[in-house]
Amino acid sequence: MILETASPRETKAWARRLASLLKGGELIALVGDLGAGKTCFIKGLGRGLQLREEQILSPTFTMIQEHRGRLPLYHIDLYRLERVGLDDLGLREYLFSEGVAAVEWYDRLSEGEAIERLAIQIRFAAANRRTIEIVGIGAPYRAMVERLRSRQNLDEA
Ligand SMILES: Nc1ncnc2c1ncn2[C@@H]1O[C@H](COP(=O)(O)OP(=O)(O)OP(=O)(O)O)[C@@H](O)[C@H]1O
Ligand SMILES: [Mg+2]
Repeated sequence: MILETASPRETKAWARRLASLLKGGELIALVGDLGAGKTCFIKGLGRGLQLREEQILSPTFTMIQEHRGRLPLYHIDLYRLERVGLDDLGLREYLFSEGVAAVEWYDRLSEGEAIERLAIQIRFAAANRRTIEIVGIGAPYRAMVERLRSRQNLDEA
């Protein structure tokens, strides 16, 4: 599904809707250029998981930040690594956990393509406009996209 948002607020609102569908064990894989809005999206996810938005930071040195909301949220940023494997940084445990793993710069992960996930690509459209493409890879994630899409149809009705 493809969304267009006109402000950070709208991006976060979509992420909050997505958060309401999460049950734990999900992998949210974000890709997009610097400043596209990946962290912004994860702030919305955090809000939806009953965290305070200020808790979600753009990690500078910490590549993995753990939060405890309605579900554990593992915020992972792979930007600083040119290439990373599942066996580095204990990533495997975070990505296949009971919690929700939200990974910025997911494209840095060598084995990334083979893993079932909710793939989110954010692109610049205009000043404050972003195009957010959400694709479910694997049956549970496709179902999640369908549920999110029905929210979109409700909003547009
Ligand atoms: N529609 C929008 N959705 C999301 N962010 C937006 C939007 N319009 C403007 N912005 C701005 O774009 C910036 C997005 O920054 P953010 O840190 O989320 O990007 P990022 O993809 O995480 O970048 P990085 O790769 O550096 O981590 C913020 O300053 C935000 O206010
Ligand atoms: Mg970021």
